[in-house]
Amino acid sequence: MAIGVFDSGVGGLSIHRALVNRMPEADFIYLGDQKHAPYGERSGEEIVDLTRKGCETLFDAGASIVVLACNTASAVALRRLQSTWLADYRKTIGRPVNILGIIVPTIEAATGLPWEHEAERRGAKIENVDVLGIFCTTATARSRVYEIEIDKRRQDLAVFTEPCIGLAGMIEAGESEEKLRAVVESRVQALKTRIGRYPDRAILGCTHYEIIGNLFKAALPEGTPLIHQPSSVADALEEYLTRHPEYQVGAASARRFLTTGEPGPQSKTVEAFWSAPVIFQSATNT
Ligand code: DGL
Repeated sequence: MAIGVFDSGVGGLSIHRALVNRMPEADFIYLGDQKHAPYGERSGEEIVDLTRKGCETLFDAGASIVVLACNTASAVALRRLQSTWLADYRKTIGRPVNILGIIVPTIEAATGLPWEHEAERRGAKIENVDVLGIFCTTATARSRVYEIEIDKRRQDLAVFTEPCIGLAGMIEAGESEEKLRAVVESRVQALKTRIGRYPDRAILGCTHYEIIGNLFKAALPEGTPLIHQPSSVADALEEYLTRHPEYQVGAASARRFLTTGEPGPQSKTVEAFWSAPVIFQSATNT
C-alpha cells in the first residue's frame, strides 16, 4: 500500500516533495492527469469526473490514501466525491481507502485556528483588517472556498483571491521564465489595484505556482509572508495517519511517477524545482 498524490499535472510535485521529506519511509505513487491539464478553466462536472478517475487509477495502483495535491480538485471535487462515489467504491474495492484535500490544512495555517473554530459573528469586519491575497485558478476562485471558510473563522482577516488565468498551463508547458514572470507580475499588480495596496500575506493557492514561488516572492514586496501550503499539508497528513493506522502506506521508500499524458522527462522549470530530472511513466501501463 502507498500514499497516492494526485494533480492535474506537475503542480502536485510541490506537495509531494514536502510529504516525502516528512515521511521518507512511506511508499508514494504520484499521478499527474496531464492529458486533461490544466483543470483551472474546466467546468465543475469535468473536474469532479476527472478527479474521480485519477483517484481510481491511484487506488488500483495500490494507494490507500489519495491526497488531492490540487486546490482546484480539492475545492470543486473533494466534498462531492466523499459524499457520493467514495462509499460505494469502498465496498467494491474491499479495503480502507480515503481521499484528502489540501485546503483545510492551508486555511488552518492561514487563520492559526483549528477547522472546528467558528468566530462569533459581529455583523461587520472589525477595523484594522489583515489582508490575505490568494493566487489561484479560475475554478478555485469561482468556488470562493477560501473567502467563505476564512470568513467563518476570522473577523480580522480579509481575503482577496486573484485568478491567474493560463498560468498553470504555461508552467505545465515549460514556458520560459521571462513569460512566466510577466504573468506573475501582472497578477500581483492586478491584486494590488483591487485591494488598493499590497496584501499583508499571501497563499499560492494553486500547487503549480509553488514551483515558481521565487517569481511570486520577487513580484510581491520584499518579506511578504507566504503561507506554505506544502508543509501545512505534510503536518496534516502525518497527524491524520497517526490517528488512522487502518490506512497502510508501506515502508520501502518506493517512488512511482505516473502520467495520463506523454511519458518522459518534465520541463527544466520542474527539474530546477526538484533539483533533479523528473521522469513520468505512462499510467496506462500500470
Ligand atoms: N495545480 C492545480 C491547483 O492547485 C491545478 C492547476 C490547473 O490544472 O489548472 O489548482
